[in-house]
Order: sequence, then C-alpha cells, then structure tokens
Amino acid sequence: MNSVEGVVIASRGGAPSIYLRNITKAYGETIALSDVSLDLRAGEVHALLGENGAGKTTLMKILYGLSQPDSGQIEADGVALKIESPRDARAAGIGMVTQHFSLVKNMTVIENIALASAKTFAIDLARVRAEIVSASTRFGLDVPPDAIVSSLPISLQQRVEILKALMSGCSYLILDEPTAVLGPNDIDSLLEVIRRLRSDAGIGIVLISHKMAEIEKVADRVSVLRRGQVVSSSLANGITSKELVTLMVGEQQSGAEQRQRSASPSQSQSPILVLESVGVTREAGGLSDVSFAVRPGEILGIAGVSGNGQTELVNVLSGTTQIDSGTIVVEGRQLGSNTPQSLMRAGVGILGEDRHASAVHALQVVENLILDCVEKFAGKLQLRRKEMLSHCESAITQFEIKANPKQAFGTLSGGNMQKVLLARLFSRNPKVAIISQPTRGLDVMATNYVRSLIAQASKQSTAVVLVSEDLDEILELADRVAVMYRGSVVGIVDHSEASRESIGELMAGIAK
Ligand SMILES: Nc1ncnc2c1ncn2[C@@H]1O[C@H](COP(=O)(O)OP(=O)(O)OP(=O)(O)O)[C@@H](O)[C@H]1O
Ligand SMILES: [Mg+2]
Repeated sequence: MNSVEGVVIASRGGAPSIYLRNITKAYGETIALSDVSLDLRAGEVHALLGENGAGKTTLMKILYGLSQPDSGQIEADGVALKIESPRDARAAGIGMVTQHFSLVKNMTVIENIALASAKTFAIDLARVRAEIVSASTRFGLDVPPDAIVSSLPISLQQRVEILKALMSGCSYLILDEPTAVLGPNDIDSLLEVIRRLRSDAGIGIVLISHKMAEIEKVADRVSVLRRGQVVSSSLANGITSKELVTLMVGEQQSGAEQRQRSASPSQSQSPILVLESVGVTREAGGLSDVSFAVRPGEILGIAGVSGNGQTELVNVLSGTTQIDSGTIVVEGRQLGSNTPQSLMRAGVGILGEDRHASAVHALQVVENLILDCVEKFAGKLQLRRKEMLSHCESAITQFEIKANPKQAFGTLSGGNMQKVLLARLFSRNPKVAIISQPTRGLDVMATNYVRSLIAQASKQSTAVVLVSEDLDEILELADRVAVMYRGSVVGIVDHSEASRESIGELMAGIAK
C-alpha cells in the first residue's frame, strides 16, 4: 500500500473503509467477543472504549492478525481480507502499536525501522534515515535515529513504534492505550500527532483509551464495548463523557467519592517511614539529598514530571537500587542496607510502575498472588494448593478481579493484571505501602475502586507513598505532596495549600 510520502489524502468520513463483521472469539469458557461488528473509516479517529476485560485488545489483535477469530470476517472496501498474521495485516495497510512494544531493544532506532520496512536483505540505511527524518518532521514525531532503543524513555520508544508502523505503509493505525504509559506533556504531543496523522495523511486511527478527556479532544467516532459486545457506535459530536461512562458500565454508580481527611492526620504519631538525605549516584538521573517522613495513616503524594527521580525513588524503596548515602528508617529501626528482603521484612510493600516486571506471565493468577509470601503456603514437601486457591478466590471476590485462579497471568486484561498486583500488596497488610502509578490502564470504575482501596489502607494506619503522574489523583488522595525535580525533593506542600498551580511551579523547577 501507500508509503508515508505517498499516502492518499482521503476525505473525512468517506471511503475507503474496513469492516469487521460478526466477530466472535472465546477463550475456554470466557467469551471475549460475541458477534462484534465495527466499521473503520480512513481519515477518522475512532475511539474504542470499554471496561477492563471488555474485549478491546482482543478485537484489535484479531484485526492485526495476532489472534484468529472463531467466526466472522474482515473486509476492506467490499473485499474479504485474509489476515492470518501481522504481516498480512501490514500488507493490507493496517498497523498496530501494542501496549507491550515489539522493538529490538539493543538495536538503534534506524535499525529497528529498517528491519520492519525491509523487503529484501539489502537495506539502504541512508535511505531509511532520510525517510525517518522526513516522516518525523511531517508528523511531529522527533526521534534520535542513532540512539539505542533501550536508552530511550518510553515516550520516545512509542514514537519509534508509530514511525515504524507508518513507514511500513499503513493507512490504518491501531493504538492500544498509548497514553497509559505517558505523562501529561507527552500525552498532549501524542494527541497532536494523532490529529496530524488523521488530517494531513488521512490515516484512520483506532484509539483505545480509558480517559474521557482524551476522547473528547480527538475522537471523531466512538464505539463502546461491554462484555464482548458493541453497545454503541456513533459520531463523537454531542456525546458526553457521562453518557459514555454509563454506556460502558451500565446504570450502576461510578462510586467516585472524595477521600475524607481527618483535620490533622496523625500529627501526634511518630513517623513510620523516614528517609534522611538519601542519595543515589548516577551519571544521569540518580537521587540527591532526598528526605521525608510518613506517619501511620498518612498518604504522601510524590509529584513531578516523569524522569525527575520518581522511578529511582521507588527502586530504592523496593530494594532494587542500593543507596549510596543517607539512611532509611522504618518504625524507628534503621535499615542496614535497603535490600528487597530487609524492606519486606520491615513491612514495606510495593506496587511497581511496570506491572509486567512484578509478575510472571506464564504462572497462574493463584501463583502470582503469593509470589512474595510463598513461605506462608509451604507444606512439608510442596505448596498447600487448597489454601492458596481459597486465598486466591477470596482476593478475586474482594478486589473484583475478572479472572479465574488457574488462568495464566499473561492472559488477563491489563486492568485485571493491575488488580491482582494490588490484591497481592494489600492482602499482606503492609505497614508502609509504596504505590506507583496505581491506576494506569484502569477503567473508570476500577480507578475509583483502587483509589478507595488506597484511602481505606490509610484509614487502617498504613503509611502510603503514592507516586503518580496524574496530578488529580494526587490532589484527591494525598495529605501532603512532595514534588521531585532533578532527583531532589524541591518542596513538600500540605494538602490544604496544594493546588495545580503551586505544584505545577515546583514541578517546573520555578518556585522555591
Ligand atoms: N490468551 C487469552 N487466554 C485466555 N483469556 C484471554 C486471552 N486473551 C484475552 N482473554 C480474556 O478475554 C477478555 C477480554 O480481554 P481484553 O484483553 O480484550 O480486554 P480489554 O478490553 O483490552 O481490557 P483492558 O482495558 O483491561 O486492557 C478478558 O476476560 C481476558 O481475560
Ligand atoms: Mg486491553
């Protein structure tokens, strides 16, 4: 099909189109999709919404040839398409950026793109470079062509994925929750790229997202999946966020409620977690002179533009990065070294930002749930499976996880993976919970639920450190907000004085 340079400018809303017809797909007893039909048009941003586990990814994997439907078909401009692999999809002009990127990490940007668009063994790197530069400029997708992919932040790796899809000549581009891994600034630039792809190149875009504000900004058409069925497909114009949420979840209440803070949260109690001048020496990144204290029942929010030391701080508190200076004190006892074991023994629990890194995809849900407390279920010779199963079943009920205990973790929908990890953290009743980006990729209901879980944990005296790029989340939950800038805490603001403006200035390194 067309290359980026030669993409036909299609008129908005007109042909050509792709039709998904009566797609059904079951995994064992789970019916992921039931008789789903959907039309995609060139030059349109088509938002695909639905609760966690509704079937969005499954449907798009089928369109991109990563999965085969049990029945149903795909047509382009009236002709049936046979899509048995991503290669077939790309040949039909369909590209996809999945949530788990498929770049070769130890190769350069240019090599990754060249590999994907190569039709022969002879690759003309100079030509590919020129094409990258031209496509980058055209769509506002700046990338450093000679950088090794693993050295790039997620936002740039994502751009490389998008360029790769565009340069292999796609006229339709599927983006599966592209904004879930981005901070606010990067989200805005991605939305701008999406607009340009649509308007300047006439590309049809499928945008999966849980964030209504994004849908409102860029979507031309919106389809809602509920439990594997399309419950609505219409032009975005005139449809409100509230209506969309109702379509997604039915008439049930969204359950959003403001956290009730006590007048002076536990000021009288001594802090349970204290960091004193903690430093991690690094050429780039690192931490310097980080100090804060968290009391039982208190939520300390950590705000900052991504890449200002938040990830390093979480790594320090999970024991994966050793500190080079300063001290960590839990319940009055100074840790000799901050190893994962010493932190866990001291009662510190973690929800890391990368849910894939803290779970084993091939293991079952029941096994993943006890990964950090295996000894509790150890019998004489083997694990006590029955007890593990009943522990798992009650977690599934309590945390409303859509999964069965024996299902492989890797087959859960994104949101349900996150719930399993939260269940693992909270079912140990940690004294201190370090929680990073807890609602990334969660649907509206699950987001409210997870926020209420965090509030509830604080009510039961857990000290919470909440790292989030979602400022609204921090303002809703935190008693105090610590702002990180260039590896240091540049200010700690009490909830009563915290506003988007005051925190925003600290985040930008302006205020003192
Ligand atoms: N390989 C698989 N094996 C078993 N079940 C699967 C597999 N892939 C998906 N499922 C199930 O199909 C259903 C739909 O999952 P899907 O990933 O499409 O949801 P989703 O709408 O993308 O949700 P999310 O917003 O959480 O990403 C879920 O119940 C999921 O557990
Ligand atoms: Mg999904």
